[in-house]
Amino acid sequence: MKITITGTPGTGKTTVAKILAEKLSLPVYNLTELIKKEKLYTDFDEKRDAFIVDIEKLTNYFKDKSNFIAEGLIAHYIPSDIVVILRAKPEIIMSRLEERGYSREKLKENAESEKIAFCANEVFELRPAPVIIHVDTSARKPEEVADVIIEGIKKGGLIEEIDWLED
Ligand SMILES: Nc1ncnc2c1ncn2[C@@H]1O[C@H](COP(=O)(O)OP(=O)(O)O)[C@@H](O)[C@H]1O
Ligand SMILES: [Mg+2]
Repeated sequence: MKITITGTPGTGKTTVAKILAEKLSLPVYNLTELIKKEKLYTDFDEKRDAFIVDIEKLTNYFKDKSNFIAEGLIAHYIPSDIVVILRAKPEIIMSRLEERGYSREKLKENAESEKIAFCANEVFELRPAPVIIHVDTSARKPEEVADVIIEGIKKGGLIEEIDWLED
């Protein structure tokens, strides 16, 4: 089973992926770490302090793997059986990332990108997997989020209605 977990920073991808990996006995790949370790980038963006991912190298890396969980901001570019989009209220994103020591600018940038559903919209446009799971993590513990994902896998998809612009 190939699962990708995407979403705005602070939605809980890394936390939930680890729990899910335990529950489903799958290896988990943190894309930020993997991209550095395997040099799956084209360049380094000094201004943004981030690597520019080589999508072709990234998808190639997973090409012959049939069982994995890959989690990261661009996980939905990797072909998979199941794509999970994690969501969280923008103010919750802010408070989760604040604890991580993000700058004011980064906090606002990520909250804004969650507000307009940047990542989710990409998934709903690309439809990179036959099964889509779209979950609101705002009022759930990571363990509960993992259980909702498992339920979604069993059902062959689970899409919660989420629109922060309507709040
Ligand atoms: N469902 C949740 N409820 C409350 N806090 C959470 C939840 N999921 C993650 N967190 C916390 O939010 C922060 C960001 O989580 P993390 O898994 O690193 O997110 P991501 O990988 O999407 O950036 C961490 O401090 C984590 O402990
Ligand atoms: Mg993470």
